[in-house]
Amino acid sequence: MHNVEMFRDLQGEATEWRRYLHENPELDYRLHNTAKFVTEKLASFGINHIETGIAETGIVAMIQGQGGDGPTIGLRADMDALPIVEASHKPWSSKVPGQMHGCGHDGHTAMLLGAAKYLAKSRNFKGAVALIFQPAEEGALGGQKMVQEGIMDRFGISQVFGMHNSPGMDVGKFAICHGPIMAALDDFDIIVKGRGGHAAAPHRTIDPVVIAAQIIIGLQTLVSRNTSPIESLVLSVTKFNAAQAYNIIPDHVEMGGTVRTLQSDLRDLAERQILAAAQGIARGFGADVEFKYRRHDPVTFNSTEATNLATKAARNLVGAASVDDKIKPRMGSEDFAYMLEARPGAYIFLGNGPTANLHHPAYDFNDEALAYGIGYWVNLVDTVLAG
Ligand code: NI
Repeated sequence: MHNVEMFRDLQGEATEWRRYLHENPELDYRLHNTAKFVTEKLASFGINHIETGIAETGIVAMIQGQGGDGPTIGLRADMDALPIVEASHKPWSSKVPGQMHGCGHDGHTAMLLGAAKYLAKSRNFKGAVALIFQPAEEGALGGQKMVQEGIMDRFGISQVFGMHNSPGMDVGKFAICHGPIMAALDDFDIIVKGRGGHAAAPHRTIDPVVIAAQIIIGLQTLVSRNTSPIESLVLSVTKFNAAQAYNIIPDHVEMGGTVRTLQSDLRDLAERQILAAAQGIARGFGADVEFKYRRHDPVTFNSTEATNLATKAARNLVGAASVDDKIKPRMGSEDFAYMLEARPGAYIFLGNGPTANLHHPAYDFNDEALAYGIGYWVNLVDTVLAG
């Protein structure tokens, strides 16, 4: 059991790593400099089992404990930045125009490196720790790709843990819940195919704009009339493309949107019912639809035992009152969900203080949180792999 003061020295070092990563952001799978930096640091800590090039630029590094046989647990950090023009005005702002660490993955990487340095020195646990550094969390499915490339079996990982910073939550606080903690993310496209013509003679057309408007209203009843009031389904139509002129009724209208749910069976319902509603409405007016539904991140699901272990580890670090283990799930999504589909585990939020929100140009990871993140990882290893 460690309290946070034991990680203050490491925080100083991790701050330098974090700011270096912040100045040098890279996107999706193209994390060549970031991966090189991480690999060199891991090697400098005396870790000699490092595999690179997983899912292109992902890394898995193994630290064996000295406490005898035991399971291997995976600790995961994401490393990728976002295509945003930074406006944090910090001295360590991005040196790459149009790219920034706007989600704090620089901090996540630095915290897992800090824990790696500590654990590689102490090795005071049984079994082993697999450090997972993943590329392409931001919409490019790097987590799924690492799972598809077999990291769970290859490294014998039996449980897997993830962490994300949370702006608006005090530094030193943690938040978690059992079951779904982040939503599944799907999106859809609907093309309403009518018959275009002159806007002054609508009776000679089948106006897809009016039909598409009816479909948008009709889709709202999926949430209000087809979903149980205590279940969560979010459906937002976010794209709408019609004619480019004032006097044309277009042949077709393209629209699209997103679906967020906390239960996988609601994804089936959404896919089925969006098509049924759109098709029914369009055909009622003599039009038709083309429909595409794509499933992205699944529900991020925290398993019972792992969530209890994660909660205990955080409480050992900061005390019971600073760890809320009954938060409401968030409707954003996270591709760590693919790792949690492959193995039981838990995902936890770490307070980032009163910073700008994630994905905002003024956002910056809070370096004061580094000691807490490092301490959480070390305490988690202590808790799960007690020798
Ligand atoms: Ni993120």
